[in-house]
Amino acid sequence: MYTNVSPFEYAGAALERMKPGVFLTASAEGRSNTMIIGWGGPLMIWNRPMMVVFIRDIRATYGLVEKSGEFTVSVPLRDGLEEAIKFCGTRSGRDVDKFAACHLTPVPGRKVGAPIIGECDLHYECKVLYKQTLDQSAVPQAIKDRFYANPVNNANHTVYFADILDCYVDGRVR
Ligand SMILES: Cc1cc2nc3c(=O)[nH]c(=O)nc-3n(C[C@H](O)[C@H](O)[C@H](O)COP(=O)(O)O)c2cc1C
Repeated sequence: MYTNVSPFEYAGAALERMKPGVFLTASAEGRSNTMIIGWGGPLMIWNRPMMVVFIRDIRATYGLVEKSGEFTVSVPLRDGLEEAIKFCGTRSGRDVDKFAACHLTPVPGRKVGAPIIGECDLHYECKVLYKQTLDQSAVPQAIKDRFYANPVNNANHTVYFADILDCYVDGRVR
């Protein structure tokens, strides 16, 4: 059903899908949750394929990644999940079971404890190697004004650098 691919074979497609949003899913203490991310992507760092993601500390998913040190990134390569993306990118797992509400299927990860989103096509399983919370004193003022110091966006980001342990595509797109 799934075909293993190099972490970079679909990197262009994954990055194209960042703008509308892709799913980042994490699990800890028997709870799973998914959120939408738009910043980050697969990169070569320290001679190893890594996934870099930015997660604000107010996200419910942030707590799960902090606890488990793992997450998956599931990318839809075809249209059809727009409603689920909107819902999972605006509602918090603190208030609602997003899998049930959006009819998303959590398929167990192969190498990490977090599930992937069965309805997506491209999957990365990731284990955090290094993380860094942004030093706001070093963030340019224009970026701060737009992304950190206003009533809508004021939580800080932690940047996670995670080893890509597994990468595969659904047979439907291969
Ligand atoms: C297109 C899109 C991209 C987003 N990108 C990010 C991101 O990169 N990092 C982040 O922390 N939140 C991002 N969000 C917001 C979260 O997905 C949203 O706040 C979500 O409701 C958090 O869910 P949670 O509280 O269940 O973790 C994005 C939302 C959308 C719609």
